[in-house]
Amino acid sequence: MKRLSPFVLLTVAFAFTAAGATDLPATACGVRKVATIASACGELLRVEARYLSDGDAPRRDTRVARTLARLDTAWDKAEVADASGMCASRSAAGDVAGSRLSEAVATTAAALPGSVACRAGLVSALASHCRRAIRSEGAFLRDRDRAASERARAVSSLRDRLEAEPPAACAGAPIPEGTVDALFRLAGIAIGDATIRGLRALGHEAGIVIGAAVEPHEVAADPSYPLVLAHDVASLTAENAMKWGPVHPQPGAYDFAAADAVVALADAGPHRLRGHTLVWGALQLPAYVQSAASTDELRGYLLDHVATTIGRWGGRIAQWDVVNEPLAAVHEPPTSDGLDDNVFRRLLGPGYIAEALHLARAADPGARLYVNENGVEIPGPRQDRFFALVQELLSSGAPLDGVGFQSHVGLIPIGLYPESATIEASLRRFADLGLEVELTELDVTLAFRAGTVPSRLEFQGEEYRNVVEACTRVPACTGVTLWGLSDRYSWLRSFFPNDRPLPFDDAWQRKPAYFGMRAALAAAALRKAG
Ligand code: XIL
Repeated sequence: MKRLSPFVLLTVAFAFTAAGATDLPATACGVRKVATIASACGELLRVEARYLSDGDAPRRDTRVARTLARLDTAWDKAEVADASGMCASRSAAGDVAGSRLSEAVATTAAALPGSVACRAGLVSALASHCRRAIRSEGAFLRDRDRAASERARAVSSLRDRLEAEPPAACAGAPIPEGTVDALFRLAGIAIGDATIRGLRALGHEAGIVIGAAVEPHEVAADPSYPLVLAHDVASLTAENAMKWGPVHPQPGAYDFAAADAVVALADAGPHRLRGHTLVWGALQLPAYVQSAASTDELRGYLLDHVATTIGRWGGRIAQWDVVNEPLAAVHEPPTSDGLDDNVFRRLLGPGYIAEALHLARAADPGARLYVNENGVEIPGPRQDRFFALVQELLSSGAPLDGVGFQSHVGLIPIGLYPESATIEASLRRFADLGLEVELTELDVTLAFRAGTVPSRLEFQGEEYRNVVEACTRVPACTGVTLWGLSDRYSWLRSFFPNDRPLPFDDAWQRKPAYFGMRAALAAAALRKAG
């Protein structure tokens, strides 16, 4: 048997006190992986710096290959010590992490401005910082109480140091805008692949709540489900159980069994709850509501529905999607005012949205009240229409606290995968009205995307990183909720049986999408600490 190094023994001792005996091997393995990828980042940047000016591509490739081989071997060894297998399943495979990191290093170096010599100087300056920033993740795995200050120490001086000691070849020019940020992004990618911490913990550190929509019967029937909820999820939404049809199938007759089961899951978590949804004219609305014969009849149903449904859980639900999809659906013929042509608009007029918000406020003064819409993540006429609606609501004094961007990426509109800056600008546009914003139903369909499965999954990982990064850059963006967790249970499978839209695959293995989310959260945590 190989002797353990003092570093490993120290790590093991730390892990024992911090995480308890059951976490022990996985924690030690995670610390090893983080340290290894930290060194690899430093090496890759140094190699990049050297051959940027030298131009000897074959030698560069040989050295990169050697670094990646060392990383892969070290990860394999780290995993051998972890009989639980938890560490292996919670981090990316060594060869995948290595090639992802080396690609990111090359992209980062290529994006820096300036002469070749200046860029080479900058890249080599980044090398030690990258190592330090990634290593700070080790602190979180070893000793959670001390970790935040260690992280802050590790990253707070990066900007200062780069500014105080700029590379000589840059001839006194200021450090290009975005250099430190590029470093955090790079370190985020490495941490995202290496750490064994979940989305829940990293989200907390990044300042956003990571949520998921669930069907309680699926959670109950699948032993892996609760484990993932505990590790990765901080907020729950009922995928269907709180909608009008399921809870209020007949006038005045309520069935809260499934909805209560979601609340019980949240209590056990403990998780925040998003209530979804009180008023949705398009779907899952019972026939008696759709065929209401008069304004009074419909208003009676609405009053009872909002008060009874919100009242059921007396303040336990932090946010409500009071009105879902108020705009005309993208595949429907346009309406004169752009609003969905549903029974509420027909009988109560467009003011039904404000009316529902007032009813919700009266039923629970503490809940954050949202309108939730699809296809508004990108600029254009649809977003403009939604923006005008939100402005009208606010200026009429309707109690609106937040806007939900459903974020069914690649679906609405079909085949479009927006860049991070585009989504960020959209979020800011609404946040500037003084509202909270959340991504409420995130999934990334691959149904309209050509290519091999691995390349599509990598692409999807990048898109998840883009989307989550957008939220982390907008202070008013408080949460990202996934519309499910495992591909196996995704609603999109009923339309596209082979789709793989979520961060976990059918067997609950983490996909590039999962690591992409972690990369965005880890980068945000570093940015915040600095
Ligand atoms: C979907 C559910 O995921 C499906 O199980 C159900 O059959 C239909 O509704 N926008 C929304 C969600 O606001 O409520 C929808 O949920 C998905 C699209």
